[in-house]
Amino acid sequence: MNVRPQQLYRQEFRQRILAERPQSVLEVGCRDGKCLQELLAAGVHAEGIEVDPAHVAELRARGLCVHAAKGETLPFAAGAFDLVVSEYCAHHFADLTHHLAEAMRVARRGVFLLDPWYDLSIPSQQLAERWDRWFKAIDRAAGKVHHDSLAAQHFRGAMPNGSRWSFECRHVLHLVAVDDAKFASENEPYLAQVATRPDDLAELQAITAARAQSGLTDDGAIMVLLRAAGSTCSP
Ligand SMILES: C[S@@+](CC[C@H](N)C(=O)[O-])C[C@H]1O[C@@H](n2cnc3c(N)ncnc32)[C@H](O)[C@@H]1O
Repeated sequence: MNVRPQQLYRQEFRQRILAERPQSVLEVGCRDGKCLQELLAAGVHAEGIEVDPAHVAELRARGLCVHAAKGETLPFAAGAFDLVVSEYCAHHFADLTHHLAEAMRVARRGVFLLDPWYDLSIPSQQLAERWDRWFKAIDRAAGKVHHDSLAAQHFRGAMPNGSRWSFECRHVLHLVAVDDAKFASENEPYLAQVATRPDDLAELQAITAARAQSGLTDDGAIMVLLRAAGSTCSP
């Protein structure tokens, strides 16, 4: 199986966080705690929030400081952390506007977000984005919050009006083919749901056929770096 590129994106993102030399970081949607642990190992005071109670319990049992809360309502005082960061969470927030307003209230210096992105100038990425829309629509029909991929203008447009924070956006892409095993394993959880839905089934068949023509490659990443006016930027 091909090695997925998300780990490379996470590495670069975490390097960007540490390059700010923060004393304290709040990670939103910390799931398995890997990012929190990396920050703690680098000497940063790191706390997390998570909506899934099972993750909260497991992380607390491992001694990590994790709060049960949503990214849209952060239970912290203004300026409580140097940075508020999140990896692969922005497309799960019910309202990105609320999250950014809250994150920018709680962060003294910056709010950094990492999320999937597709380079639509490349056919194999166009197909990957179509596949992404396919499974997210099924998730939404099942009642989950799972938005289509977010572009720079969505993040910029979700910043509070009149904000004096700076906006920086970086796109990265390591073009890696989604191989047969990966394609099958990602589709598998959805097959029972679409079995009785001809339109969804037909779309998967069309994506499968198109994959044989153009190939289908794993997502790139968008890194959104928001900095408070007057805060020190990384060198
Ligand atoms: C795609 S996972 C990413 C997890 C982890 N950051 C990573 O990159 O592996 C999204 C995570 O955000 C959490 N989550 C979903 N909606 C959230 C919300 N509104 N506020 C905070 N966390 C949320 C989920 O429980 C899940 O752990």
